[in-house]
Amino acid sequence: MPVSQLVTRPWPTLNGFSASATRASTDRRRFHAATLLHEKVNSPSRSLQQGPVDDASRKALSEIAFAFDIDGVLYQGQRAIPGAKEMLRKIRSHDIRYVFLTNGGGSHEDAKYKSLSKRLGLSEDEDVIRNRVILSHTPMRGWDENVKKQGTVLITGSHPEIARRVANEYGFARAVTPADIIEANDKVYPFDNLRESLHKESRPLPDGKIVSNTIDPYSKDVPANALKIDQILVWNDPRDWSLDIQVIHDLLISHRGYLGTISDKNGNALLPNNGWQQDGQPQLWISNLDLLWKTEYPVNRFGTGAFVEALKGVWAASTGGAELQFSALGKPSQHTYEYAHDRLLHHAPEEPHGKGQKKRALKRVYMIGDNPESDIRGANEFAPADGTEWISILVKTGVWKETAAEREPRYKPTVIVDDVVEAIAWAMRNEGVDVTREWLASEDWV
Ligand code: G3P
Ligand code: MG
Repeated sequence: MPVSQLVTRPWPTLNGFSASATRASTDRRRFHAATLLHEKVNSPSRSLQQGPVDDASRKALSEIAFAFDIDGVLYQGQRAIPGAKEMLRKIRSHDIRYVFLTNGGGSHEDAKYKSLSKRLGLSEDEDVIRNRVILSHTPMRGWDENVKKQGTVLITGSHPEIARRVANEYGFARAVTPADIIEANDKVYPFDNLRESLHKESRPLPDGKIVSNTIDPYSKDVPANALKIDQILVWNDPRDWSLDIQVIHDLLISHRGYLGTISDKNGNALLPNNGWQQDGQPQLWISNLDLLWKTEYPVNRFGTGAFVEALKGVWAASTGGAELQFSALGKPSQHTYEYAHDRLLHHAPEEPHGKGQKKRALKRVYMIGDNPESDIRGANEFAPADGTEWISILVKTGVWKETAAEREPRYKPTVIVDDVVEAIAWAMRNEGVDVTREWLASEDWV
């Protein structure tokens, strides 16, 4: 699927960075691309016994950066990849720029930094991970403040109440969860299995709004106190697919996002998309399209993308095959790469979730990922306006496995390596800096 299909609606106005994602030029990917898949580079290099300590190496490393995927790259579930912790300390101590670019979400960046530190065996006090985590929805921090202040969003994910609190911290003034809606009117969803668990926490609807049983669904004379949703934010994989699909569907068939109404444009063959989603319904944002992700379980697990497929299936069945129009964030969305690139250019991990004023150019960014469909595809297609090259490295510790049926991934990386430590060794050698995986994975801090 081309990226243009992943983002079907205009990006809200952003503060601080350009969202003009550009198409990749595959020609630009010829950099060192003579390297064959599964091979290691033997580029001319300065031999280093103690690591990259000479001036030429330092200069080379100051012009590159790393973007680390998390699941399947740094750990598998609770199991850390051996050597990852030591390697991260090494690149930190050599002042190399890096971020963690994950499709995980539904929580605060600081919560992720703490859980990542814990799983890798790093202390929270070590300045290795803090302020470097970019979640699938982190770019929403840069959305226009007016958009966040004026509208009402429906937010959902694995823990909607946590997601709501994070959304509030991002500046979304009115964030409603599915639990708020069924608390306001239990007729919206005629089942109560999870009322005392997942949906236990709720808040009154904002501004005294209500969800009425007596509204005429086809009337355009909507009561002033009817709940209107302006945007739907799916931040990660919901746990109650049934309720969330019901409420999202209700909003996508509504008149202008008023819950309980039905648009008279639905099914009108004279309109685009047969009239579906043509009546000012809320914009649907999905921050993560990963069908699969990697844990310690031997078989890949379903991610948020599986929920999206379920939603698409229900939507197609109920609309007679209409396209579900939505906007995507997270890898491989080019907005996400644009955001990460901007953070790396203005690298300032002392600034919480932000960036410094000073811009330092980059020659190359290495994306280390385990998922060809998101990590590799996104990096391959990203061609920032400043000419920096994004190089994709696929590791074998995650989602992708070579099988008899699939000898090579659909989206091909520049190189495939065993794990994240090998990936960094490969990238440094590619820059002419001769390091070994043993050095990277050693406790030695030099
Ligand atoms: O839910 C997380 C999963 O979809 C992938 O996370 O770190 O591999 O991008 P990550
Ligand atoms: Mg991954």
